[in-house]
Amino acid sequence: MKQLLTLILIFATTYLMANDENELIKKGKAVYKANCAICHTVNGGQALGPDFNMVAYTRTKKEIASYAKDPYANFKKFGYSANAMPTLPLEDVEFKQVAAYISSLQPFKKWMIKKK
Ligand code: HEC
Repeated sequence: MKQLLTLILIFATTYLMANDENELIKKGKAVYKANCAICHTVNGGQALGPDFNMVAYTRTKKEIASYAKDPYANFKKFGYSANAMPTLPLEDVEFKQVAAYISSLQPFKKWMIKKK
């Protein structure tokens, strides 16, 4: 009986955690559309900033959230010689959501498959 309860608890926690992540990604997509899409494409494209499927391939979720929140503090570390991306007035939770969305994007070429 005790084992069964432990099992149920593990399943429930896993389910809730997966749901939380999906919720973050869903909200992050809306944040992307409203705040990033004018400068960043998804699924491969050309805009002022880099395509987010490429970013998903090369950066961690933490790096993405950090850059989104403060591009000026990060541009040198990320290998840029200048910073054209503005600092956006969003809430911390929105940066977290948009980073979850970007990180969830699938590579659009086979060789881009994430090894994380
Ligand atoms: C006005 C245009 C513009 C907007 C709006 C914008 N970006 Fe950017 N972004 C850029 C440019 C240009 C760069 C290239 C580096 C730089 O200039 O800072 C960049 C770089 C980045 C990078 C680093 C990519 C890498 O791996 O090198 C991330 C992450 C990023 N942007 C996330 C976001 C997110 C998330 C949003 C929306 C919340 C957003 N950006 C909105 C223009 C923009």
